Amino acid sequence: MKRISLIIAACAFITGCTGTIVSDKAVSVIPQPASIEMTEGSFRLTAGTQANFLYEAPELEYVAETLEDMTEDIFGKGIKMNLSSLDASKGINFILDEELPAEGYKIEVAEKTIDIASSTAAGAFYALQTLRQLIGAEAFTAEKVKAVEIPAVKIEDSPLLGYRGTMLDVGRYFFPVEDVKKVLDIMAMHKMNTFHWHLTEDQGWRIQIDKYPRLTEVGSIRKRTIIGKDPNGEYDENTPFDTIPHGGFYTKEQIREVVDYAAARFITVIPEIEFPGHSLAALASYPYLGCTGEQYEVRQSWDIEDRVFCPGKETTFEFLEDVLSEVVELFPSEYIHIGGDECPTKYWQKCPHCAKRMKEEGLKTFRQLQGYGIARVEKFLAKHGKHLIGWDEILEAGVTPNSIVMSWRGTEGGVKAAKQGNRAIMAPSTYCYFDYYQSKDRENEPLAWGGFLPLEKVYSFNPFEGLSETEADYILGVQANLWTEYIPNIKQAEYMLLPRLAALCEVAWTAGRGSYGDFLTRLPAMEEMYDACDYNHRSNIEKR
Ligand code: ACM
Ligand code: ZN
Repeated sequence: MKRISLIIAACAFITGCTGTIVSDKAVSVIPQPASIEMTEGSFRLTAGTQANFLYEAPELEYVAETLEDMTEDIFGKGIKMNLSSLDASKGINFILDEELPAEGYKIEVAEKTIDIASSTAAGAFYALQTLRQLIGAEAFTAEKVKAVEIPAVKIEDSPLLGYRGTMLDVGRYFFPVEDVKKVLDIMAMHKMNTFHWHLTEDQGWRIQIDKYPRLTEVGSIRKRTIIGKDPNGEYDENTPFDTIPHGGFYTKEQIREVVDYAAARFITVIPEIEFPGHSLAALASYPYLGCTGEQYEVRQSWDIEDRVFCPGKETTFEFLEDVLSEVVELFPSEYIHIGGDECPTKYWQKCPHCAKRMKEEGLKTFRQLQGYGIARVEKFLAKHGKHLIGWDEILEAGVTPNSIVMSWRGTEGGVKAAKQGNRAIMAPSTYCYFDYYQSKDRENEPLAWGGFLPLEKVYSFNPFEGLSETEADYILGVQANLWTEYIPNIKQAEYMLLPRLAALCEVAWTAGRGSYGDFLTRLPAMEEMYDACDYNHRSNIEKR
């Protein structure tokens, strides 16, 4: 790779700077492109630059909007979009190249043109995310920018993993739509393409369901919340609680707004409706859903809850099918996540309905009873053209080959799934739980769930370890999980995500083939971009 020397703009960080910014960011792209070659010269981007779309595709409007917003952020006014143009002699040209992989792209920055080739609008969108990084953060923070000199470069790029996910738990703490959109913006910047929206929990039900209004009237509100950590690790009468109700839910209109906002960023939204565990908020809303029919309260502390859906009662499945019927209408995703994790069987063991079901169905163990429930849900989803995703416990309960396993208790579940021919997503707590501490310096870190997941560890994740090449084909991708027991607001969520999402996006994009040392040389430019966007992030990389 040939590197040319670049003049670093003296005015880069001076507010009030007027004039030209010379970017030196061409070699600082995250995730690392497949190939990048510096060439001679630069392209001068100004408010007068035109964008030419040389082909038509429905989602190209999102690409145009992105470029318009991006240039508006720099110049105070977006550049002109020629949505059907034949002239590619100057400006930013969007070109169709059907030979390129679905999410791949090529960028060639030259003196008169920036050519962006892709076979899909998604590829063009990712090219713009790269272009934003080639432009560099200064252009987005300095005032009165007249021009940005973007160094000439040729980039060819495509992701190695098709599923690049981020999960947000809105059950423990509710995040308003504006905050969810911020998470989607952060994801887009990292070329992540799947948002897993954890919508139901013991501590809160967050999605409007017309047929069951109490889910949000009752189930979305807990009357108080545990404060800090219980010193004994167990909750008892001495456990401190606040006295403030916590609630919130998304209306159907808001859900559609989020799905559309995500689509404009080439992000698919996968909803999670937890079954049979993590469901106390649903049981508090409709007591008949539990084994005993008792009236419960929405859970106010964390950890695993014993009171779960009763898979013995037919009415539980009626409820689930009604709920899922409304859910599949809202989410175009081919996948629906139904949880399946951490489901104690304490209440099932004493339940006559569960006993009857087990006898009728010839089920020997309570895990088989769980498997019976999951299989019914899977069949129902299949009727609606949807595939089921579940946490790796669904393997113990027995799954059909169509189910997708999300491996969280290490990678073992994903490995087992792939070996038996189930597709899997790798989200092991050991590499992907961003609710864990980023540093050992706990005194200076916000209170977190526990664990220790520094940046380097995230980066070191090899999602294919223990798998042959053929088995590795069953790994759809990787996912960052942000559980929010100790993440009450978006600023803290940003802090836990960044910069670890930069490391994981590179794992996803390059399938774990990058070098951490090289990544660290590119990270400061990304952190400048976080600052330009006013994202809260962990910083000072030398000290990590
Ligand atoms: C999980 O962390 N219980 C999936
Ligand atoms: Zn029961």
